[in-house]
Amino acid sequence: MTDLTPPAKRPANPRFSSGPCAKIPGYSLDMLADAPLGRSHRASVGKAKLREAIELTRDILGVPADYRIGIVPASDTGAVEMAMWSLLGQRPVEMLAWESFGEGWVTDAVKQLKLDATVRVAPYGQIVDFGLVDFDKDVVFTWNGTTSGVRLPNGDAIPATRAGLTICDATSAAFAMDLPWAKLDVTTFSWQKVLGGEGAHGVIILSPRAVERLETYPPAWPLPKIFRLTAKGKLIEGIFAGETINTPSMLANEDYLVALKWAKSIGGLPALIARASANAKVVHDFCAANPWIANLAEDPATASTTSVCLKFTDPRITDGEAFAKAVAKRIEAAGAGFDMGAYRDAPPGLRIWCGSTVETADVQDLMPWIAHAFHAEIAALAQAA
Ligand SMILES: Cc1ncc(COP(=O)(O)O)c(C=O)c1O
Repeated sequence: MTDLTPPAKRPANPRFSSGPCAKIPGYSLDMLADAPLGRSHRASVGKAKLREAIELTRDILGVPADYRIGIVPASDTGAVEMAMWSLLGQRPVEMLAWESFGEGWVTDAVKQLKLDATVRVAPYGQIVDFGLVDFDKDVVFTWNGTTSGVRLPNGDAIPATRAGLTICDATSAAFAMDLPWAKLDVTTFSWQKVLGGEGAHGVIILSPRAVERLETYPPAWPLPKIFRLTAKGKLIEGIFAGETINTPSMLANEDYLVALKWAKSIGGLPALIARASANAKVVHDFCAANPWIANLAEDPATASTTSVCLKFTDPRITDGEAFAKAVAKRIEAAGAGFDMGAYRDAPPGLRIWCGSTVETADVQDLMPWIAHAFHAEIAALAQAA
């Protein structure tokens, strides 16, 4: 008989959502006291705060000095779509997807922009073959597939010299994975992922080649104001110095600044990457030790260190979706882990956010709860049979 006694200890912070993600360790709202609330974002105090966020982003991510960094509306989606609508159409495009967000960008390219597109889609758990991709076309892809837990291991497959632009949705990768800037012409992310910031704004990072495209290629379609990065054929430089297109949340920006300063205080990007890797390793080791659960990522080289996606492999499970939901519900009801169900379009299973704000001890304390909930649900199945 399996022991169905619940584990004695719960994670101190049971927040394992893949966005919004756990706040930084020791977070409190008092940390936002310096936010210039009620002041104009165009006053010098507001602009200085936005510029500080841009500068710290550059510092921690190691973004080259000649790349532009802008804070833009509508979170990561806003940043990706702004890039697609502003840059694509000059040459054919390759759209690469291995989960639902990447597939969303495929829909944008094919159904909305109606581009001359080569679409490469890999099933959940796999990644597309980058060896087949023509980088003389523009290429759009997601670095870390948040809903499949499959990531690009590195940028080696992207040639340093290429005629097309690379547009990379890095929202669940930035601050937890190395991003090779020389290989990326447009990189986007939002604040509520790896640094545990607030949902609101997107960040767009442009290489000099992306800026050149913006200044030489006017798209054939109309651009709404919130997508416009140029005026009279020139880049609007102010956007990349804290003069946002429309009104940002100074509270969300302050929260991002607090997270950036925490990131710097613990050792910057190497420390952030190490934290996520250590967290993911706990889950990977747990899978290796238990035959009834496995990483959705088939190749360990592509296994995410932020959104770790798991599937149940026990042959006694007949309705995979109901089983996975029941496990997640049981863990949540015990207060041991919140928001851990697989994404709605993904195969049934669990998704455990292991990004840099999550404490390794909390991931360790979560593992016995997964085992407990699994065995309890298997016992319930046996009883119902
Ligand atoms: C890979 C990826 N792209 C885009 C998004 C959408 O992000 P946002 O809500 O910041 O627009 C998400 C959200 O989880 C994501 O994981």
